[in-house]
Amino acid sequence: MIRLFRATNFRCLENAELALSSKFNLIYGANASGKTSLLEALAYLGRGKSFRGASTPNLIQHGKDEFVLFGQVDSLARTRSLGVRNSRAGLEVRVDGNSEGGVAALAEALPLQVIDPEVHNLVAGGPEQRRRFLDWVAFHVEQDHLLAWRRFRRALKQRNAALRARSGHATIHSWNAEFVALSAELDESRRRSLDAALESLSEFGRDLLGTELGFDYLQGWNKERRLTDVLEEGLERDLQLGSTQHGPHRADLKISYDEKQARKLVSRGQQKLLASAMILAATETAQTALERPLLLLLDDPAAELDGESLGRLMAAVSRLGCQVVATSLDSGLPGTPAGAALFHVEHGALTVIQAPENGR
Ligand SMILES: Nc1ncnc2c1ncn2[C@@H]1O[C@H](COP(=O)(O)OP(=O)(O)OP(=O)(O)O)[C@@H](O)[C@H]1O
Ligand SMILES: [Mg+2]
Repeated sequence: MIRLFRATNFRCLENAELALSSKFNLIYGANASGKTSLLEALAYLGRGKSFRGASTPNLIQHGKDEFVLFGQVDSLARTRSLGVRNSRAGLEVRVDGNSEGGVAALAEALPLQVIDPEVHNLVAGGPEQRRRFLDWVAFHVEQDHLLAWRRFRRALKQRNAALRARSGHATIHSWNAEFVALSAELDESRRRSLDAALESLSEFGRDLLGTELGFDYLQGWNKERRLTDVLEEGLERDLQLGSTQHGPHRADLKISYDEKQARKLVSRGQQKLLASAMILAATETAQTALERPLLLLLDDPAAELDGESLGRLMAAVSRLGCQVVATSLDSGLPGTPAGAALFHVEHGALTVIQAPENGR
């Protein structure tokens, strides 16, 4: 959870400083006032990247050389200071003055999730987003997931490089055993994480959509077959394409809604509710594992939702008990709890309308 935040020269935010409530914060302002930029900056401090997929030159304020973000974060019984500086020379990350942990140290100190108007892509888009979703849960639930994931990525890169170099069957073959072992580790870690999240996934599905959701992990190769055999048989094709066609890097999460495949849901509002249910469930699962409240960024939650759906989303958010920073065009976002901290933003400048209550 973040208590103090400062953004300098990040998009339209020249010098924005914010003392946040540990409960609910609402940022409101007109179009192009800087609401999403503020959430993007907050998320950058916990992820070392933009949730809008923006590159560094787009994030640095026009005419400036770098942006700087700073945050004071409560993490268990400790207060930690997080700093990020990004210029064309590259990203610099510090947690309590220490730069060794890199982006992973940011993610550990400030775990966060985002629900924004693009959230429906988690359901409607390609498998990569669903893998990232599952890996995010796993990073927080499974102690060794980051290590397993990094080792697998390295093995995949090496095998692909060998394929492209046409290193010969014997060399590629020699990579297979390690690739299979690391695939198994990653696969099992993801399965355990999905299991840990299933109850929350069903509950938030029922809360938001009033129906039963189904989640099936597709591991990235034929589940009836051993990966060793699949690699063996696919070698010619892997060589032709210069990359490994089967493995956990091809995994997906099959989501069903009323027993139909959720990707075929036509209504954008329903896609948003389903994706939001997934994000809330992931947040709850990580909160339980980490035993502390997480940060949830809600960018324009009212977009695409009718009054009743928005009500259900906001009620589910409030049950979660996490720290929330939400944005809205005006100060009357339905579901905003009494006592919420309130900030107005205009041309990238923030005004406190209702300060966070003492110690909250
Ligand atoms: N690198 C940059 N330097 C300066 N200004 C920028 C930069 N990148 C974006 N902006 C400007 O920041 C402003 C705020 O954008 P932002 O997306 O935060 O608005 P918003 O309040 O979320 O609007 P909306 O209600 O339409 O979603 C825009 O006018 C945009 O042109
Ligand atoms: Mg916006």
